[in-house]
Amino acid sequence: MDKILVHGGPALRGNVRISGSKNSALPILAATLLTKEPCIIHRVPDLSDIHYMLTILSELGCEVERASGTVQIKAETVITDAPYDIVRKMRASVCVLGPLLGREKEATVSLPGGCVIGDRPIDLHLRGFEALGAAVRVQAGNVKVLAPELRGATINMRGKFGSTVLGTDNIMMAAVLAEGTTVIDGAAEEPEVVDLADFLNKMGAKIEGAGTRRIIIEGVKELHGAEHTVIPDRIEAGTFLVAAAICGEEVTLQKVAPAHLVSVTEPLQRAGYFVEANCDTITVRRNGGCLPLELETQPYPGFPTDMQAQMCALLATSQGISVITEHVFPQRFMHLAELKRMGANIELQGATAVINGVDQLSGAPVMASDLRASAALVLAGLTADGVTEINRVYHIDRGYESIDDKLNQLGAKIERVKGSK
Ligand code: EPZ
Repeated sequence: MDKILVHGGPALRGNVRISGSKNSALPILAATLLTKEPCIIHRVPDLSDIHYMLTILSELGCEVERASGTVQIKAETVITDAPYDIVRKMRASVCVLGPLLGREKEATVSLPGGCVIGDRPIDLHLRGFEALGAAVRVQAGNVKVLAPELRGATINMRGKFGSTVLGTDNIMMAAVLAEGTTVIDGAAEEPEVVDLADFLNKMGAKIEGAGTRRIIIEGVKELHGAEHTVIPDRIEAGTFLVAAAICGEEVTLQKVAPAHLVSVTEPLQRAGYFVEANCDTITVRRNGGCLPLELETQPYPGFPTDMQAQMCALLATSQGISVITEHVFPQRFMHLAELKRMGANIELQGATAVINGVDQLSGAPVMASDLRASAALVLAGLTADGVTEINRVYHIDRGYESIDDKLNQLGAKIERVKGSK
């Protein structure tokens, strides 16, 4: 397994180009199952999670062609049983259920396992499919959905941790070909849900209200092929904003959507950083030390859970006591033990991390555990004294396109050491 060595100290400066959004590309690629005609998707990031999704779609019968950031997919004929050995590797595979049910009126997908950020149920997805008229059966680790016909319904997608992003996506994709009108109440409002709805509407769907809590879908008879460019990855962008805050002089992110990042740029301004947004760029400049913050993760447009670990890395060396409460995935704190190995002073009280800023972190061997926790360890390594060795780098490669190369282009000193397979 590869590992990376982060040599702490160099200041970051310059421009970095942000990739297309992983969490937008994944459901959009799944949505191409809804038509027999070819679809062309641009700005698809080169990530292992994307590779998994394209493999699943090929196994389902799709013709898949990829040329750098553009993917062409044609689902002329499909099977409806997704392969367990790939699906189990990536929870987001669950978003093939909705389009398969919408197109073929049946689908079988292995139940997504839990992961280190917590239990990953899909009860809200399944409740939504049942409301549309599907029978749902869970057996031998698989979930099977079957519907002689799909009829529009009013469905509430909120659970005790807020709405569900992929659940909203799945119900939208099942409802676009249902008879009649579907109303999704308590819908997720994330920009990635809006991007999916935009793509579906280009395919001939009739969806209104994406980006609000109430989405209305008028079922249509069929969908046609479409071409689409994926929105920028707001979490990759947020990660680089924090990198710039941790050890930047002046860093400019290019090809971003500043409107998607207000819940990250606003706290950075409160922490004392100079942040300037233009149409598709954001510039961050240090302006003295990092002031402490109180943050709570919430569904969009609140502070994103996918930025919680990265903020812990920044606040570990802030001037005072910071508090971060995790409301979306209350167990999402695997990064704390590793940050403490680097000298951070953090105490976990339930789903709240109390961070007592220290002057300096120290490089150490640390273990990556999930995608965003791994990114947080890279960020901490940038400012630590000495070398931080991060093992199990495959976690990072799932969601960041060449993060080491991009950081090195800004002046960081990161080595990737090819490990034994
Ligand atoms: C999406 O996951 C993202 N993944 C996650 O990003 C992100 O953390 C999450 O949304 C929240 O923003 C993709 O888009 C591929 P949820 P998703 O369903 O849709 C509970 C990353 O790092 N819940 O919105 O799977 C659930 O347990 C990843 O890029 C139910 O209770 O998340 C959680 O507490 C990690 N029942 C909360 O809702 C359900 O049926 C939000 O989960 C579904 C979810």
